[in-house]
Amino acid sequence: MVVYALGDKVPEIADSAYIHPLACVIGDVKIGENVFVAPQASIRGDIGRIEIGDESNIQDGVVIHSDPGFVTFIGRRVNIGHNASIHSEYIGNNAAIGMGAVLMVGSRVAEGALIANAALLHPKTVTEPYKIYAGVPAKYLRDFPEDDPARVTITGYVDSYVERTRTYPRVLRRLD
Ligand SMILES: CC(C)(COP(=O)(O)OP(=O)(O)OC[C@H]1O[C@@H](n2cnc3c(N)ncnc32)[C@H](O)[C@@H]1OP(=O)(O)O)[C@@H](O)C(=O)NCCC(=O)NCCS
Repeated sequence: MVVYALGDKVPEIADSAYIHPLACVIGDVKIGENVFVAPQASIRGDIGRIEIGDESNIQDGVVIHSDPGFVTFIGRRVNIGHNASIHSEYIGNNAAIGMGAVLMVGSRVAEGALIANAALLHPKTVTEPYKIYAGVPAKYLRDFPEDDPARVTITGYVDSYVERTRTYPRVLRRLD
């Protein structure tokens, strides 16, 4: 895996986390248990801090960055879809970020909320727990309860990525 210290800022990565060798982790970053980080993800804690909670997944091409002196906090069992850009302050437990979503500096995602594919979350948007926000700029779409079919699907993704933190180290082989 490509992990860089930056001066005295040294990433703290749980042993059970899986960071793909083509992902990049820099500086003031904390990554929890069974977190999966896919190829081409960039988690860059150079001027601000980034924390990622247990059993979350960061999919291909996701960019996570933080402003000077700020923390980008990502809770437990958060699903972050391909190519999302995360500059938010806070993403609560069990939230989901759709593919290509853009979370602007200072935005906050409530526990269990879903930011839809390709949404743009403005910092002034107040997200509430277990609701979906979609569009550009993102607006409330509908509620997102525990038994919602889309939530059941996303919970399946989260479980599957947790499983992959165990299987990838055993079965992934570079062939070139
Ligand atoms: C938001 C989401 C859950 C909606 O799913 P759904 O309830 O099945 O919604 P539907 O497809 O029936 O659409 C309902 C309405 O929302 C709109 N809508 C759905 N997704 C939207 C999106 N990403 N942006 C804007 N509007 C959207 C639809 O156009 C539709 O509008 P209408 O009622 O005016 O026709 C789904 O589109 C989504 O973004 N899922 C995220 C998946 C994810 O996290 N992926 C990561 C994969 S690893």
